[in-house]
Amino acid sequence: MSNTNKIPREEGIDHSLSLIREGYRYISNRRQSFHSDIFETRLLGKKAICMGGKEAAEVFYDTEKFQRKDAAPNRVVQTLFGKNGVQALDGEAHKHRKEMFMSIMSPDGIKSLIDITKKQWEMAVDKWIRMDEVILYEEAQEIMCRTACQWAGIPVQEEKVRELTKDLGAMFESPAAIGPNHWLGRNARNRVEKWMGELIDEVRNGNMNISTNTILYRFAQYRDLEGNLLDTKTAAVEVINILRPIVAIAIFINFIALSLHHFPEEKGKLKFKDEEYAQIFIQEVRRFYPFFPFVTALVKKDFTWNNYKFEEGTLTLLDLYGTNHDPKIWDNPDVFNPDRFTRWEGSPFSFIPQGGGDYFMGHRCAGEWVTLEVMKVSLDYLVHRIEYEIPDQDLSFIMVDMPSIPHSKIVIKSIKRTL
Ligand code: HEM
Repeated sequence: MSNTNKIPREEGIDHSLSLIREGYRYISNRRQSFHSDIFETRLLGKKAICMGGKEAAEVFYDTEKFQRKDAAPNRVVQTLFGKNGVQALDGEAHKHRKEMFMSIMSPDGIKSLIDITKKQWEMAVDKWIRMDEVILYEEAQEIMCRTACQWAGIPVQEEKVRELTKDLGAMFESPAAIGPNHWLGRNARNRVEKWMGELIDEVRNGNMNISTNTILYRFAQYRDLEGNLLDTKTAAVEVINILRPIVAIAIFINFIALSLHHFPEEKGKLKFKDEEYAQIFIQEVRRFYPFFPFVTALVKKDFTWNNYKFEEGTLTLLDLYGTNHDPKIWDNPDVFNPDRFTRWEGSPFSFIPQGGGDYFMGHRCAGEWVTLEVMKVSLDYLVHRIEYEIPDQDLSFIMVDMPSIPHSKIVIKSIKRTL
């Protein structure tokens, strides 16, 4: 007799369609109905294990048990990730490449990013006060694209900024899209990788006058464990791994604006409370609103966890959204309540909007500190530095769009500087 338990199983040939139909709630719906933080299903024609919650996150981030090579679906690689980037590396090769990413996130690096973000917000507001209305999502993407390029030392001609903003946006808006919207993302990636590859080659050939301190230069000259430069395409993918997610912070900026609108009492508190309240408010925005639904990995070798057997090669999904809304971790998880973070014990496995575990040893988001700082600057502008109105519009967002963005993308009007 086996002394392992059977993982609760969802019957049927394939459930990819249910995943698309239920979106962010696909995994938590089943965790609820099976009364289990783990279940087995079939996705993309393969057996898959889905799990969520703190303990599940702990085992998922054990690099002895899970690997990332070949774990991401092709449609994600072709749009969001690119090929051969840090997301698909394991072991020493991952650690070495991740150190490069984390070295960018030094206190000086982040300070310079904050200064650039403020400057770009100032320039945007100068423009907005002369306009009838603006679409916040699109404008925030452009602020972030300009910020990212300046921070990374990437020269962009003014007339190219809009197109580049759209292309970087398409890369994270398209992974789960169907048909033409998905292809927008693939084409955008091909275009930006080609251009970035040309810049990398120019840096390497000494044809570009660029400081050795810039992110572009550092990736162009980065050497792997064997002492080799990255091939041009991979170096391009890694620079884009900095630019694209900075533009994606526009999604959180939109949710900041939405939360200020839906919870006006919070806006009142933010006006009079200190920076600490701004910090917990941002944490609650990252917990409450949907962004990345889950992350994927493959079982590295057979192991048993909580009496459940995991077989080598099995696709495994960790429920990020569901863990951030897990009633075993959070009181009233569906209530927006920044104060919950004043008492939060700070586990790296229970609050995982940008992945969990350790930054250096695992795959946790390299840009989490960057995200927090950019959100703080943006919150400051939306609360203290400008006044605006939100006209009638469709502010709803649905849990099946991944990523989910309020339908109107948030139109704001009558923008004034606060006196
Ligand atoms: C916009 C908000 C962001 C969200 C919601 C987000 C979310 C995530 C998630 C869920 C992961 C995967 C974690 C895992 O695989 O376990 C990740 C990885 C990553 N993120 Fe972010 N991220 C954001 C912003 C950023 C920023 C601003 C940067 C860079 C400046 C960045 C760079 C990266 C990189 C390089 C990885 C791969 C790390 C690795 O595989 O070791 N992200 N992010």
